[in-house]
Amino acid sequence: PTKIIIDTDPGLGEPGSDIDDGLAIALALASDELDVLGLTIVNGNVDAFTGTDVARRLTDRLGRPELPVLLGATKPLLRDMAPVRALFDAVIPAVPGTSDAGDLLGPTSGEHAADFLIRQVAEHPGEVTVVAIGPMTNVAIAITKDPSFAENVKELVLMAGSATGYAQNVTVVGDFNAYVDPEALDIVLRSGAHVAMVGLDQTSRVMLTRADAQHLRDRGDAFSVWVADCTDAWIDFLGEAFPTRPEHRDACFLHDPLVLAVVLDRTLCTWQDADVRTELVSELARGLVVANRGLALEPAGPTNAVVAIDTDVHAFRQLFLERIGTTK
Ligand code: BDR
Ligand code: CA
Repeated sequence: PTKIIIDTDPGLGEPGSDIDDGLAIALALASDELDVLGLTIVNGNVDAFTGTDVARRLTDRLGRPELPVLLGATKPLLRDMAPVRALFDAVIPAVPGTSDAGDLLGPTSGEHAADFLIRQVAEHPGEVTVVAIGPMTNVAIAITKDPSFAENVKELVLMAGSATGYAQNVTVVGDFNAYVDPEALDIVLRSGAHVAMVGLDQTSRVMLTRADAQHLRDRGDAFSVWVADCTDAWIDFLGEAFPTRPEHRDACFLHDPLVLAVVLDRTLCTWQDADVRTELVSELARGLVVANRGLALEPAGPTNAVVAIDTDVHAFRQLFLERIGTTK
């Protein structure tokens, strides 16, 4: 099996927090092809402490309480998190969540998420794939702290940006992960590591509908019923937060599960080499990721990533719905 570490900001069940990280974790833990070494938690959808608790409750629910869960960066490298939280807080109180908060599990082991990443990659050079589905802060710290990390990691598979057009969720140009910590993403893109990027242009094509949730609920097992309830609550939230997006009346995106799934089956997406950079100066364009695939007059620089430019939506949905909630 492929050794992976999932670097994540899971909020599954927390009011007003994207459920997709949790679903990506559940998909990974249902997949024989993967040896999940641990979950490293980063500030993002929720603060890193909440994310750590969410991850631990999730691994408990999935029968994997021994899986290492490591608390990581509690804020972006340079940027202030408060205005980002304020965007969410403005809409959160409207919708009750399905959180089981209150059941906090206490402190994690003393090792920082970035040190766990460094240690695992050093112990298994060339073998560990890091699937980064939150802001890139932990990965950037690992790259910066250990000069051999970028060379020894097998691949960094990123949920960030967009390769074929604007990534409109936090702003018109910025997907959440790039927007929250653009400097961290910049460090990752300049690191020389093997990078595969799946952007919001692809992940926004894969949706989980209220009908899918009902299908999960009908399975009757506790985990599937809980996921179905969380899905309905998240779709309710999105309907309020994005009244101009009709797709959110009945569905939410499966951003992070698609990114995890390309580690299981690379052919779920079509790929192209690109020179990928991120905007760091402009406030208007904060979080903009520019993937030069050689289509413009300006020549591309040396390629530093492969980027997903198309997705087999049907094949992904089939894989996801078959596996979610099962255990390997
Ligand atoms: C990314 O931001 C979060 O909302 C999702 O979990 C995903 O990782 C999409 O921009
Ligand atoms: Ca995420």
